[in-house]
Amino acid sequence: MSATASSHDSLLELPLRDWRAPEAAALSAQALRALEQGQVLHFPHLGFALSPEERVLLDPKYTDPKRKNISLTPKGLAGTVAAGAARERVQGILQRYLDSTSALLDALFPGYRDARHGPATSLRLHAIGTWHPSWRKDDRLLHVDAFPSRPLHGERILRVFTNINPNGEPRTWRVGEPFETAARRYLPAMSKPWRPWLAGLMHRVGITKQRRTEYDHLMLQMHDAMKRDAHYQQQGDWAQVDFMPGSTWVCFSDQVSHAAMSGQFMLEQTWQLPLTALSYAELAPVRVLEKLKGRGLLAA
Ligand code: SIN
Ligand code: FE
Repeated sequence: MSATASSHDSLLELPLRDWRAPEAAALSAQALRALEQGQVLHFPHLGFALSPEERVLLDPKYTDPKRKNISLTPKGLAGTVAAGAARERVQGILQRYLDSTSALLDALFPGYRDARHGPATSLRLHAIGTWHPSWRKDDRLLHVDAFPSRPLHGERILRVFTNINPNGEPRTWRVGEPFETAARRYLPAMSKPWRPWLAGLMHRVGITKQRRTEYDHLMLQMHDAMKRDAHYQQQGDWAQVDFMPGSTWVCFSDQVSHAAMSGQFMLEQTWQLPLTALSYAELAPVRVLEKLKGRGLLAA
């Protein structure tokens, strides 16, 4: 069994059909290198089956109107107005997706197993373009992920996505240029100074869950600078990819420039991963930004 480079070199196609991935050992080294280099791993034949009763829940009306997604974290289920049996079924979908994606990650990336933490599973029922209160939250614009309220201190955002659209509609993404190329372009725009006292204040009053480091501050600016760059959004070096229903894709979304252009109904699994679990840590966004800045960015 082998992997194939796809038409665009930002994707690596892997032929797995089973979440437990019995053939993962043969693909693991190649998959790990591609993932950490900033490629998207694409599993065209890895779908997530829903029962007829579960399929009824593929309707935006089950999402809390104030929230973008339904989510499951160790704190429980959030973001849904489903009650009773429907609520249990929603939770069942999310739990099963957490279990399936964990099996896949453990098979492919055994070195991440004990390190990944902070799981969040989400069920996205809204059609892309129908829920974005501001340009900053509009994921149709290319960006790298950074969380305003959850500073990561250089840790990675590892995400698994599966298109569960029942009507054959793809989830269409744009995937952009390598992280270092984007970072070099936007560094001049990332000029808002980092103020340690302000980072401390934001943490004390609860705006952020931890103190922002200069790295977190830069990543948020990069996210915004990319989304504001209308020229790059129109004419930049990106490739458009259709992720069909019944397919899965995995990437470090803090590293891969991405935009979700259209589609509806997706499951997504997020993990946080420390730098120490990486095999090619020098390619991590924090290390790349430190190289370009010529200094450490994780000091408190
Ligand atoms: C994003 O992470 O920017 C959005 C991904 C998606 O909804 O497909
Ligand atoms: Fe994103």
